[in-house]
Amino acid sequence: MQAEAAVATLVDPQTLMIGALILLGAPGAGKGTQSKFVSTRYGIPQISTGDLLRENVRKGTQIGIQAKSIMEKGQLVPDEMVEDMLARRIETGGDTDRGFILDGFPRTLAQAKWLDEYLKKWSVRHGQAWAAPVVISITVGYNQLLRRLTGRRSCPTCGRIYNIYFQPPRIADLCDNDGSKLITRRDDCEEVISERLKAYERQTLPLTEYYRAKGSLHEVNGDQATDEVTAAVMGILENGDRL
Ligand code: AP5
Ligand code: MG
Repeated sequence: MQAEAAVATLVDPQTLMIGALILLGAPGAGKGTQSKFVSTRYGIPQISTGDLLRENVRKGTQIGIQAKSIMEKGQLVPDEMVEDMLARRIETGGDTDRGFILDGFPRTLAQAKWLDEYLKKWSVRHGQAWAAPVVISITVGYNQLLRRLTGRRSCPTCGRIYNIYFQPPRIADLCDNDGSKLITRRDDCEEVISERLKAYERQTLPLTEYYRAKGSLHEVNGDQATDEVTAAVMGILENGDRL
């Protein structure tokens, strides 16, 4: 184990082949927060289906028009719509050679099965390392999730995520990076949060068993400080903790 850790520190993270990394977790678990660290450290893109959908809503595309009212109710948008949107993003970004982070996908059993097939085809074209995703489930207690979601603010310019209770900006309401006025997500109000958490329990939580049965599930305690969660994620990706 020590030898593996020593080797890992000699490897340049920007050259590692990560493959598909799935971050599973309830709304507010820290998928977006951790994705940003992983993306910077390994030089692979964060692909957040929630962010892609919100971008479509902002631009008023066909997808955005259909998704808007569903997202405002805290429900999941149809599988096929997200799958098509995701495949387009993976294939046209030009930045997925060594891997990508799936933040918020899959979220239903049907999406997980679709992804299995998709990665099988991708591995034929891009190499065997892609065949099985690394799945990291970030678990956080219910009350903590509520505070994280009600306290979340984000920067509309650079996407940085803050929290008025846990990770406040240096100057209230302004982004530390670029001074933009921070915004609150439309679905971060209490009644929509409660619907999102119900949708998670009903439709997404069963995926942990799906990936456990395949032997690809790693669980990380997301109730720890952000950098401790990051260290646990890095341990899985670098120190041979990967299954
Ligand atoms: P999406 O955007 O994916 O939202 P979500 O899953 O509800 O997750 P969040 O973004 O709310 O939480 P997060 O885990 O990213 O937490 P974060 O890092 O921000 O989806 C939105 C909607 O789009 C869905 O409801 C659905 O309608 C639709 N959709 C998306 N994907 C779909 C799919 N595949 N299929 C169908 N529909 C789909 O952190 C939260 C807060 O906590 C922040 O303030 C942060 O600063 C703070 N925080 C993070 N880590 C810590 C820590 N360790 N300690 C203290 N505070 C922390
Ligand atoms: Mg998120």
